[in-house]
Amino acid sequence: MSEILQRLGTILGEKGLIADPAEMAPFVTDFRGRWKGEAVAVALPASTQQAAETIRLAAAHDLPIYPLGGNTGLCYGAVPAGGSGRKAGIVVGLARMNALRSVDRAANVMTVDAGMTLSAVHEIAAGEGRQFPLYLGSEGTAQIGGLISTNAGGTGVVRYGPMRDLVCGIEAVLPDGRILRDLNALKKNNTGYDLKQLFIGGEGTLGLVTGAALRMRPAIHARAHAWVSVTGPEAAVDLLSRLQDRCGETIEAFEMLNRAEVDCVLAHIPRVRTPFATTPDWSVMIELADADPAAELLPALEEVLGAAIEAGLADDAMIAQNEAQARDIWHVRHSVTEAHKIHGIGVVHDTAVPVSKVPAFIAAADAMTEELFPEAGRLVVAHLGDGNVHYIVMFTHAYWQALADKEAKALEVEMAVHDIADRFGGTISAEHGIGRKLTSELERLGDPVKIALMRDIKTVLDPKNIMNPGALIP
Ligand code: LAC
Ligand code: ZN
Repeated sequence: MSEILQRLGTILGEKGLIADPAEMAPFVTDFRGRWKGEAVAVALPASTQQAAETIRLAAAHDLPIYPLGGNTGLCYGAVPAGGSGRKAGIVVGLARMNALRSVDRAANVMTVDAGMTLSAVHEIAAGEGRQFPLYLGSEGTAQIGGLISTNAGGTGVVRYGPMRDLVCGIEAVLPDGRILRDLNALKKNNTGYDLKQLFIGGEGTLGLVTGAALRMRPAIHARAHAWVSVTGPEAAVDLLSRLQDRCGETIEAFEMLNRAEVDCVLAHIPRVRTPFATTPDWSVMIELADADPAAELLPALEEVLGAAIEAGLADDAMIAQNEAQARDIWHVRHSVTEAHKIHGIGVVHDTAVPVSKVPAFIAAADAMTEELFPEAGRLVVAHLGDGNVHYIVMFTHAYWQALADKEAKALEVEMAVHDIADRFGGTISAEHGIGRKLTSELERLGDPVKIALMRDIKTVLDPKNIMNPGALIP
């Protein structure tokens, strides 16, 4: 092994290699501290070439490669498997590859290294008078490579789609060290299979994404925001339909939270503010946005919300009067994961069902939880416009600590929630991915033909199974 470390040192230089166990700890532990792996070394390549040489060396020694982005994932897809009886490998982190490669304003494309954070991408787009419309809580830490590999979503999906719709080219190092270069970002290119789509959502199992071409969209010059107290999930779905009728394309976000979720954020996150004296049982947070500065969004929003109150769908609404009030709304929304971490042990789900079935899904999940897990809290935060419900079964730290088999408990909860999503024609993973958390659930509930084809593709591209083994593929 010392010979491999020496050769890695030659490839990566002093700054690019970590082999001390204490220094490696943050690279092999998930950010919530729930899973911990082991690695022979952490490689931090400074270029695609260095990444390719690292992977070629690993392949020659049958050492697994574990790609690591910003380590903000919720499914342990970036935690190396070593230590649980599996062979330890090399974690490849992209933090040093964070440069802007080029911008083509006419094509609306920017090309970046995969280690760039989402916030940095936002800033570059803003500097060009455009936007990159992927919005999620961990944007200051999450990296483009990880966001691609997990096909990340967030609050803008209702309008712009997930990462799959925003990536128009990738560069990836294959498991044998070859480099797939597909960064021309041509809007039209009919020369066969769209291979980049295999790497988007591929969770690093087919290769290491080292660069990406990203689609920019027009910058937003008019906005309107509201926090609405609705009478329940059915009313929220009805409100969404009314908003679609009146405001269509301008719906930039449509999020729903239950009272327990908002109270969790209020209890644990400093400097968050709510406009309501008491937390609504059900909150809907809305953003309308338009590239045209003259767009009349506020009157439209007022009209829809006024009608909704009259129809008994909502009992109160706060329309943001300024930037600060708007920021306050989204600060609450984007703080949920931070708050959960402090509050207890949340078994977080990432289910999606058809939008119209969200109310029935939540009702069924509530009834199930009440019966099977009465000691748990029930938190709901949903990207309602996408039918994507994060149903969180929340246990206290003390309860969880006392459990003999925590993994078994988590799986028991997950299976019960997933069964309900399945019954409603839904999915067990809408935007977080499968990672190492949900492989058995994918096997149990996924389409067997799809899983077999995924295995076939994996075997062709990675016959030695060195790329992120144990993630995604059951
Ligand atoms: C969110 C994460 C949990 O929507 O996906 O906040
Ligand atoms: Zn989400």
